[in-house]
Amino acid sequence: MANENPLQPKRKRPFVALQEERLERRLALSFGFMSLIPILVVFWAKVSNADMGSALHLAILSALIGYFFVCRPMIKSVIELIHKARAITSGNTAGQIDVKENSEIGELARAFNRITHDLEHKIGELESSRLLVKKLLSRIGTALVSYEGIDNLLSLIIENAAGALEAHMGTLMLVDGEKQDLYMKATWASNGQAADPATRIKLGEGIPGWVAREGRAMRGKSMASSLGFTNTHGSVDCGALCVPLKLREQSIGVLTVMRETGGHAFSEDDEMLLESIGSQMAVAIENYRLNLDVERTYVETIMALALAVEAKDAYSAGHSKRVGFYATQIGEAMGLDEEMLRTLRDAGVLHDIGKIGIKDDILLKSTPLTPDEAKIMQQHPLIGEAIVKPVRSLQKVVVMVRHHHERFDGVGYPGGLKGEAIPLGARILAVADTYDAMVTDRPYRKRLTLEDAKRELKASAGTQHDPAVVEAFLRIIAEKELRVTGAKGAA
Ligand SMILES: [Fe+2]
Repeated sequence: MANENPLQPKRKRPFVALQEERLERRLALSFGFMSLIPILVVFWAKVSNADMGSALHLAILSALIGYFFVCRPMIKSVIELIHKARAITSGNTAGQIDVKENSEIGELARAFNRITHDLEHKIGELESSRLLVKKLLSRIGTALVSYEGIDNLLSLIIENAAGALEAHMGTLMLVDGEKQDLYMKATWASNGQAADPATRIKLGEGIPGWVAREGRAMRGKSMASSLGFTNTHGSVDCGALCVPLKLREQSIGVLTVMRETGGHAFSEDDEMLLESIGSQMAVAIENYRLNLDVERTYVETIMALALAVEAKDAYSAGHSKRVGFYATQIGEAMGLDEEMLRTLRDAGVLHDIGKIGIKDDILLKSTPLTPDEAKIMQQHPLIGEAIVKPVRSLQKVVVMVRHHHERFDGVGYPGGLKGEAIPLGARILAVADTYDAMVTDRPYRKRLTLEDAKRELKASAGTQHDPAVVEAFLRIIAEKELRVTGAKGAA
């Protein structure tokens, strides 16, 4: 091998070289071996009276050579191609055809390999796009149902707008009409850094201030620090694109994206894209504000209603706020998070709001209720649920209001839920509600002493109440006795 002259054409083995021949020549060869030569040999034997047996042997040998060395490899390659085509039509694009041929069949096989490779690549891209869309939808879903949803949603929009425009950071600033400046509402950066939320820009100052005042988009250069980004690139000029968020010809804010140094300048197309995203954001923000106003009014109304219900009955004055207070104390002792503690406080205030739908002669009756009256009274958790349900920000309160009269042993109402099937918040409210009823005067009995109340609570663990909740509450009473028992002012 070492003596081979690279300039001399390589000599190939005849049947390997055959695989590189054009298809037309190979068909001619196979015709020659399988038809022409056998006919000529037999004809020659006949004419020259040669041994016909030997001639037939030669003819068969020629046909076999033609079949095995010329015809069969071609047929095998074609069959392999057919199998691959079938696999592709049934969705399997994996694997490549093993190509040995240099003929037209080989070219076809290589074209197939290229097509399947491209197809696999495209399928991969589609799959990752699908996952991205799924991820986005789930994030949008989470943002929409969470209480602080709008901020998450706006950051998500900025992230995707910046991604589409190959920008490295973006901010949404809203106009503060009173102070005549812009304040930070949402922010995103590819390095995970958030812009300083305290950043404020006077109307007319810098690119965002100019865009907000003039109500027109602007492209230019600006420092990332002017938008509140203080990372290493903060003091470097970046390409900036800023568009106004307009409602009824009035700027309510500006949307800005920036490319770090080295990135190409923003184009007119980029500007048009960001403007259309900005106009959608303006509508979303306006709708959110309107909904928020409606919701806030509703929440204030039902909170007032809850107090109005209490005001009817001198004995229950302050009861709901105290229940909220005890419930948050229990939640804190059980290690629940801030959001749950807020929910418990609201649920405490609202737990008996359904009593607004119960007639006064039943609600204020100082003697025990008849079975029919008790049945009506037991409707109040369901009426309360219906009142609270429309408020999106109180969604977690709804189940607590509905189930605050369930019993741990399963004989409570309205669902007859048992044990941990009762939502934890409702189990906590039940203990807080019972305790407050025990330590305050009622028309039918005097308040219990602290010791008696503790004893009764202990006795109710496992039957009326969740033992874990009772245990947490007794622990608080022991640790913070004054704070809890003096709760008239605590709430
Ligand atoms: Fe109740």
